[in-house]
Amino acid sequence: MDTLRTLLLVGLTAISVLGLGAAAPQAAGGPAELNESSVDPALWGSRFPLQYQGYLRTLEGTGTQYGGGGTGGQAPEKLDADPRLKVIFDGYAFALDYRSRRGHGHMLEDQRQSRRVTERPQTGGCLHCHASTTELYRQAGLGHGAPGSLRAPFDSPEARTQLMTGFEAVGKLPYQEATRLAQHPVACIDCHEPKSMRLRVTKPGFLNGIAALAGSSAPVPYLPSVEAWRKGDRSRPYDPNRDAGTQELRSMVCGQCHVTYYCGPKTTLFFPWSQGLKVEQMEASFDACKPQDHRIFDWKHARTGAEVVKAKHPEFELWSQGAHALNGVSCADCHMPALQEGKTQISDHFVRSPLLDVAHACSTCHPGSEADLKAQVAGIQNRTRSLMDQAEDALVQLIGALQQAKADGVPEPQLAKVLELQRKAQWRVDCINAENSMGFHAPQEAARVLGEATDLCRQGQADLRAIPSKN
Ligand code: HEC
Ligand code: HEC
Ligand code: HEC
Ligand code: HEC
Ligand code: HEC
Repeated sequence: MDTLRTLLLVGLTAISVLGLGAAAPQAAGGPAELNESSVDPALWGSRFPLQYQGYLRTLEGTGTQYGGGGTGGQAPEKLDADPRLKVIFDGYAFALDYRSRRGHGHMLEDQRQSRRVTERPQTGGCLHCHASTTELYRQAGLGHGAPGSLRAPFDSPEARTQLMTGFEAVGKLPYQEATRLAQHPVACIDCHEPKSMRLRVTKPGFLNGIAALAGSSAPVPYLPSVEAWRKGDRSRPYDPNRDAGTQELRSMVCGQCHVTYYCGPKTTLFFPWSQGLKVEQMEASFDACKPQDHRIFDWKHARTGAEVVKAKHPEFELWSQGAHALNGVSCADCHMPALQEGKTQISDHFVRSPLLDVAHACSTCHPGSEADLKAQVAGIQNRTRSLMDQAEDALVQLIGALQQAKADGVPEPQLAKVLELQRKAQWRVDCINAENSMGFHAPQEAARVLGEATDLCRQGQADLRAIPSKN
């Protein structure tokens, strides 16, 4: 009864939130024929009901100690749970409204209702990871003069031109205008080729970002197809849909969105991957990128004036630095594990915290007791949390000390070096804080980065103390 009620409730919410039209699936005489115009997941659901049901369940609220958005409607405010963030992000939209994440079914409405969007101007670039954009970008590209039609296969040169032209054009629109073009959160068409159901990546930011990463000399042992491509003649840029294996695509489909990025008015949305995926390599990419003759920054800190960058959910990047990635374990292995449904095996499309289903997500590879494994995860996460507390405290203290120095009239040039330290420390703390596994995806890397952040803050404080006082 309860299950039935939940299903009914979820079904009803699904109809409004996922934008399912009145006349949904059943094409007369059998399941719908899927093509590059089949955006509505309900159309796919008539062919693949089990995956579709899992997908709908991403509307359910879930929560663990550090994961999920809880079961109480809109996810809780991170700024209330950790008021230091209001100091760290002072002057930026993230100091207004910054919540925990929740399931995929909510991504479009959560973006539309965020105060970062309703009270600050944003660009259409925001849509890239919060809506089904595959057909939307191609349509927009066609509207801007790109060749061919929607019938062109996704990997054809015409379709690629449509996609990239539309991506640029939609990114330039104000958010409120762009979001009117979207009807669905991430959908089947964004990860699957409609005829063969083969996995594919469709998001332009990822296609550009991974090609830039391939073109760099950063070692990428976790992506064997990139290493293979580098040994070839490089006559064509690396293209995951041609070059990557299925196991890599099982992570890349997630890396389309679970990555850090620049999204703002200065240039088209991009992932800072041209020098590698490590924290300092991404920092170097941002430093080197000068769209208006000035390196990238997201905002000037309200209290210190430092030009700072906000990291955003670098799951793909942190995962790449961990033991699982090195051993070929993909995002889908843990977040979309195999389930036995009667005689068929399917991938669980109820994407969520693997700690909610350790039996399927972990035990296939770690046969020990579930309780031991969970304790091991908790150990990693609590340790990361405590290192992060130290780093955040240090950063708040550095910001306070800089503010004091300014109030004391220390001239700007004398503060320049310390403002740089704030930029570097902020980037490091945030790369781990904005990452959503609380260190689990790469525990040692997370500890290294947080240790460095604390050290940079302490250096900054020492430098400020060494400035001779004016009196
Ligand atoms: C070895 C298993 C494993 C792999 C591989 C893995 N994750 Fe995770 N992931 C976890 C665990 C465990 C957590 C912590 C969940 C929690 O705290 O409830 C987590 C947390 C997350 C969260 C936050 C979940 C929530 O409910 O808030 C996201 C998002 C995420 N991972 C995305 C990814 C992406 C994207 C990849 C691939 C680039 C990936 N993960 C690879 C195990 C994995
Ligand atoms: C189109 C972009 C996009 C893609 C592709 C994508 N995600 Fe997400 N994911 C999001 C957004 C946005 C949210 C947060 C939604 C919200 O809070 O409303 C999210 C939330 C999550 C969560 C938190 C769920 C919860 O209940 O708290 C997990 C776990 C996750 N994604 C894992 C993955 C994995 C694994 C993949 C690949 C199989 C993936 N995502 C692919 C954008 C994406
Ligand atoms: C490259 C992909 C990507 C882009 C671009 C992107 N997001 Fe997200 N967004 C995500 C993912 C993944 C999550 C879920 C993980 C998390 O919350 O950390 C998320 C979560 C969110 C959330 C819910 C949690 C929170 O932060 O309050 C909001 C709101 C949001 N994004 C707004 C925006 C806005 C506004 C923009 C444009 C400035 C934007 N997003 C651009 C991928 C993206
Ligand atoms: C964020 C990416 C993503 C989205 C969105 C997505 N899938 Fe999948 N899907 C996957 C992954 C990853 C696999 C595993 C593929 C593999 O290992 O070959 C998969 C596998 C499948 C399979 C093959 C059988 C199985 O379960 O392993 C079917 C069928 C499928 N998905 C249907 C759907 C349908 C229908 C939708 C929309 C309701 C959908 N998918 C949305 C990522 C996605
Ligand atoms: C597809 C197989 C596979 C899956 C699924 C998997 N693991 Fe692993 N795990 C590995 C391998 C391989 C290693 C590396 C072992 C080594 O280096 O000795 C590893 C290492 C670990 C480690 C120690 C290394 C580290 O990162 O600290 C922990 C803890 C761990 N796994 C927990 C989990 C949890 C929790 C899950 C489920 C959310 C999970 N694993 C899912 C294969 C897997």
